[in-house]
This record gives sequence, C-alpha cells and structure tokens, in this order.
Amino acid sequence: MKVSYFYLLGLLVSSGQALMQVTISLSKVEISVGQSKYFTCTVIGEADNIDWFNPQGEKIISGQRVVVQREGIRSWLTIYKANVDDAGIYRCQATDSKGHAQEATVVLEIYQKLTFEDVPSPQEFKRGENAEVLCLVSSSPAPMVRWLNNREDVTDIDDRRFAMLPNNNLQIKNISKRDEGIYRCEGRVEVRGEIDFRDISVIVNVPPEILAQQRSFNATADRLEDITLFCRATGSPKPYITWHRNGKLVEENEKYDLREDNTELTVKNIISTDSGLYVCRATNKAGFTEKQSFLQVFVQPHIVQLQNETTIEHGHVTLTCEAEGEPIPEITWKRSSDGMIFYDGDKSQDGRIESTGHHGKSSLHIKSVMLSDAGRYDCEAASRIGGHQKSMYLNIEYAPKFISNQTIYYSWENNPINISCDVTSNPPSSIYWSRDKLLLPARNITNIKTYRDGKRILLEITPLSDNDFGRYNSQL
Ligand SMILES: *[C@@H]1O[C@H](CO)[C@@H](O)[C@H](O)[C@H]1NC(C)=O
Ligand SMILES: *[C@@H]1O[C@H](CO)[C@@H](O)[C@H](O)[C@H]1NC(C)=O
Ligand SMILES: *[C@@H]1O[C@H](CO)[C@@H](O)[C@H](O)[C@H]1NC(C)=O
Ligand SMILES: *[C@@H]1O[C@H](CO)[C@@H](O)[C@H](O)[C@H]1NC(C)=O
Ligand SMILES: *[C@@H]1O[C@H](CO)[C@@H](O)[C@H](O)[C@H]1NC(C)=O
Ligand SMILES: *[C@@H]1O[C@H](CO)[C@@H](O)[C@H](O)[C@H]1NC(C)=O
Repeated sequence: MKVSYFYLLGLLVSSGQALMQVTISLSKVEISVGQSKYFTCTVIGEADNIDWFNPQGEKIISGQRVVVQREGIRSWLTIYKANVDDAGIYRCQATDSKGHAQEATVVLEIYQKLTFEDVPSPQEFKRGENAEVLCLVSSSPAPMVRWLNNREDVTDIDDRRFAMLPNNNLQIKNISKRDEGIYRCEGRVEVRGEIDFRDISVIVNVPPEILAQQRSFNATADRLEDITLFCRATGSPKPYITWHRNGKLVEENEKYDLREDNTELTVKNIISTDSGLYVCRATNKAGFTEKQSFLQVFVQPHIVQLQNETTIEHGHVTLTCEAEGEPIPEITWKRSSDGMIFYDGDKSQDGRIESTGHHGKSSLHIKSVMLSDAGRYDCEAASRIGGHQKSMYLNIEYAPKFISNQTIYYSWENNPINISCDVTSNPPSSIYWSRDKLLLPARNITNIKTYRDGKRILLEITPLSDNDFGRYNSQL
C-alpha cells in the first residue's frame, strides 16, 4: 500500500515591495486518488508571465493530464485524475516587465479512500487447519480494521484461536465446523470518518470419514445368492462414494447394483471368483478415505477327478480323488465291500492300504493287491458347508484258476456224461478241451459234443469204447 499523505502548510508568499499581488483560489487541497481538481491563480498588477511550478520545482508545461491555461490576469492549473505522485506544493509565479516575481502556493494532498481489493467470498478452509481469512483493505492513512462475527468483535471472543494478523487478515487456528459463518471485515479511517466493510462467508470443509461398518461378508457360490456391502461416510461437503475392485472402478452392470448414492453395493449371483476385497472410497473437496470389505465366498465341495482303475493281482495301485470347494473339502474313502473308511493318513491293519492327501486331493494306495480289493470305492468330499460323493470301481485282473475240484467222472459205454471245468479269471479266459494233444471237439469224433454254458464249456462224452475212457485236459 502506498501512503501519500502530506501535511504541509500552504503559504502565501509576497515580496512586499512589488505592486503585483498573486493569489490562488485555494491554499490547501485534499483530494483522493483519481479525482480531478483545478486551481485559479489571479494576478493583480502588470504581469508579463504567469507560470506554474510543480512540487519538484519544474515549470509546468501543459500536457494530457496536467493542463495550464491563461486568460488575462488568471491562470488555471488543472490536474485530471490525480495520483499519489501529484502531491506536493504547487507555485504560481507572476513576473513583470522588470523581472520582478511574485508567487503564491497551494498544497495538494492526495489521499487514498478505503479500498477493498478483490475480497473473495466464500473463503473455504479445511477443518483443523490454521485458517487465514483474507481481507485486503487499504487507505491513507492506514485503516483501522476490525473483524466481526454476529456483530461481535471476534478478538473480544474468549477464544485464543482468533487473532487479527498484522496484514489485517483474520487468523482462525484449528478451524472447526462451528466457526463457519459470515465474517465482516470492517475498515475505518478516523481522520475522515470513513468506514466500509465486506462480508465474507467462511466455509469449513471436513474430509470424509467412513463410519464403522461390517468389514467381512460371507456368501455361498452357485446358489443365485446376492450380497450387499455397505459404506456410509460423513464429511462436508457430503462425500461421494465409489467402489473399487482389483484397482478398477465398479460400475453398475449385470453383476453389480449400486443404490442409495452408492452407499450400497450388491454383488449379484455370487460365484467363487467374486471372493476378495472390495474397496469403498469416500471423496469430497477436502480429501478422500478408503475402507476395505472382504467378501468370503464359500463353494460347495465338488469332486472333479475320480476314475475307474484296473490293476493286477499282487500289483499295486493308487486311487485318486480330487475335489474343489471353499473351504477346501476333506476327503474320505469308503470301500463298499466291507464299509471300511479311510481318512487321510489312515492305514489298514495289514499295512497294505494307506490313504494320503492334502488340499482337496486324496490318494488311496493299495499294495500287494488282493482279489478281495476289487469293487466299488466311494470318495466323499465334505466341508462345513456341504458334501459331494462319487464312486469308482477297482478292477483286478488275474490269471485263470480252476475252481472245480472234481477231476474224476464215472460213466459207462453209451452213457453220455457232461464233464465241466470251472475256471475263474479276469478278464474271462477261453477254455479248450483236448485229448492226446487233439483239440476237442474234432470233426472225426462224433461221440463228443461241447456245450457253452455261460463261461463254462461242457464236454458231453458218450463213451463208445474203452478208448474213450482216460484223461481229458482242459486248457486255458
Ligand atoms: C482442534 O480442535 C479440536 C476440536 O474441534 C480438538 O479436538 C483438537 O484437539 C484441536 N487440535 C489442536 C491441535 O488443538
Ligand atoms: C463368515 O464365516 C466365518 C467362518 O465360518 C465366520 O467366522 C464369520 O463369523 C462369518 N462372518 C459373517 C459375517 O457371517
Ligand atoms: C466304471 O466302472 C463301472 C462298473 O464297472 C461302470 O459302470 C462305469 O461306467 C465305469 N465308469 C467309467 C467312467 O468308465
Ligand atoms: C469240491 O467243491 C465243492 C464246491 O465247488 C465243495 O462243496 C466240495 O466240498 C469240494 N470238495 C472237496 C473234496 O474239496
Ligand atoms: C449236458 O449238458 C447239456 C447242456 O446243458 C445238456 O443239454 C445235456 O443233456 C447234458 N447231458 C447230460 C448227459 O447230462
Ligand atoms: C481223427 O483224425 C485225425 C486226423 O485228422 C487223426 O490224427 C486222429 O487219430 C483221428 N482220431 C480218431 C479218434 O480217429
């Protein structure tokens, strides 16, 4: 702020002996910046020249803003749109033909009226900061400034947070929402009784805060379930809410519904991949904050791998059952032949069968496979939220075995008799009958017929002669 203020006395100076008398219409003039003013210099007597001199002592030559005009005994000095540099003592000098000079002076004081420069309103602050409410007011002489809130001088309030700074701005330390309101910045210039003010609206913004909320949610996949997550926030101005998942903004679509100004997010038709973190963000002009919600999606156990196995007697085999689910299911094996159940880590008494497994995958190891191990095995995957069961068959291949113990048959001539040979094997075996290295039945032998009876081949012999008695071999 530029202060241009001169206290000077206007003096009328005269030489005494001369006959000329010089007077100026005014002796002391106070104008404000930007005003215009003119002065009349009147000379009584014989004056050849009437000249004006500026405060720097230079003779004034008419220009755009400062103009000198003479008409007879009068000369006018006009100052248009005064500025602070125009202040000072102006002289009007009259000179007669003999070179005698007489002069008069006028003191020009230029002052600045109370001026508010671009006082912004509203002025916004963030809660908790040390706010400085701006009020750029100037004048000459310098103004007295007061700050009022509800017609009360804020520095009279019993609150040390309020203080007027040397630059006339109002400081409010640790500003709070309660401090919001209209503040009046009032300036006074006592010498002129000048007074003016500006009302400033002070706004306090509060950064968002997300209210305590449920942080974890449970749902079950593949049951057309919906789950709604909540996020409510306070703040000023009212924060707006957005949801983010895997760093991406969640938008409304067939998967997501947003309601109540985004404070409710519904995840529709839950599937296992909906599991994970959902981030809620509350934003306003004072800042933003985030909170995470965790959606745990449970998935029913489901057996994804189990197949029939084939092995050989005395060999070894591993039955494998794999299941998915959340939480990961436990797997148990049940041998249907005897109802024996194997949990992970279980071993049969004879040590031949052992179950091992982890993470939804279980193996049933069978060593020294016995024929009795064949048959159905049930794999059951179970978790807290459900179970799934599937069966497989263990097929054991073994060499054919004769199971009939009758090896001697009695008959007589012309008495047909069926002789059979019972054999077991897996897969089923073919049986041939032979006698004396001759495969039966042979074409040239008519008294021997064969019948197929299931897996067995019956040999019907009608002994005709002694020759027909003897050893018949069955061959696999
Ligand atoms: C600021 O004000 C708040 C109340 O509005 C108070 O809780 C807090 O302690 C204050 N902070 C400081 C640094 O004074
Ligand atoms: C979600 O499931 C877990 C595990 O069963 C349980 O501890 C928790 O309390 C459940 N949370 C809710 C919100 O139901
Ligand atoms: C497994 O074996 C059973 C019984 O032998 C049979 O019914 C089933 O079709 C077989 N499954 C597969 C996948 O081969
Ligand atoms: C012969 O086998 C039959 C059944 O196949 C059985 O009942 C019988 O006891 C057996 N006889 C001998 C001597 O092993
Ligand atoms: C031998 O078995 C076949 C087929 O079962 C039968 O037709 C036939 O009569 C039997 N013969 C004797 C002597 O039992
Ligand atoms: C049947 O014929 C074969 C030759 O085709 C012969 O070797 C065999 O001895 C004959 N068997 C009988 C019982 O005549």
